[in-house]
Amino acid sequence: MSSFKVRKAVIPVAGLGTRFFPASKAIPKEMIPIVDVPVIQHIVEEAVQSGIQEIILITARNKEAIENHFDLNYELEDALEKKGKKDLAELSRSIGQMCQLVAIRQKTPLGLGHAVLCAAPWIKDEPFAVLLGDDLVDAEVPCTQQLIDVFEREQASVVGVMKVPKDQVSKYGIVSGKMITTKLMEVSHLVEKPSPAEAPSQLAIPGRYILSPSIFGFLRKTVIGQGGEIQLTDALSSFAQKEKLLAYQFDGDRYDTGDRLGLIDATLAFALKRADLAEGVRELLKKYGEPFQ
Ligand code: G1P
Repeated sequence: MSSFKVRKAVIPVAGLGTRFFPASKAIPKEMIPIVDVPVIQHIVEEAVQSGIQEIILITARNKEAIENHFDLNYELEDALEKKGKKDLAELSRSIGQMCQLVAIRQKTPLGLGHAVLCAAPWIKDEPFAVLLGDDLVDAEVPCTQQLIDVFEREQASVVGVMKVPKDQVSKYGIVSGKMITTKLMEVSHLVEKPSPAEAPSQLAIPGRYILSPSIFGFLRKTVIGQGGEIQLTDALSSFAQKEKLLAYQFDGDRYDTGDRLGLIDATLAFALKRADLAEGVRELLKKYGEPFQ
């Protein structure tokens, strides 16, 4: 394992977003907002707050809006200034200057493993983070930072995990291995979306990874797996036979914004944390009749 710092992150955003059709027909599903901030901005902010300097987006056709969102927009910023809306102009500029961003096209939808492999020429020989665009983690210390801390301390690749109910295991990559501490496991193998009967544990990966660049060698050899796609989970399972792989139960609340109810859940949770919205949202919740804690 190299002693490089984790400076780069891969964020795959090539999916069609069929669960959000028709909203995702003409805009990328990653641009759907949690209140007024697109999901992808929350993910990029987590990466940047964790010390990531360069983001490698794995994109597809019709995803240009994501790149535009993280660019400067002189006409808009100028028009906002002229209208006296300096704060909005500043907000727009701060998003444009948030990070260095590279976009790579995944020309064929061959799965998450293939999407990560598309980043190999830009990652070269450095360890890197992977953040999946559907998964939001609200945490005091950003989830990616928690994993980088483990990576730097243990000098080993690490995946973030959370315990899920048994009937949910088939939605995730599931790890198994030996617990080293109450929160840290040495992983021996992983299974992508097992049935509850086949799942080796209830520890699921909600889309956060810190990986050694040697994962690319395993990805190149990974054959088509679950769902007819090249799975990152399968490559990680081969990796774990040869190199140390850890799983860390991170602190924080995770939301699946790739699911319609998950998006509503995230919207309510984030709105309730906002001073400008919390009271109004509580009123709305009362209006809809459920006793709200
Ligand atoms: C992907 C991964 C899976 C992971 C999940 C987290 O699946 O393949 O291992 O647990 O993301 O959201 P997807 O949800 O893209 O089918």
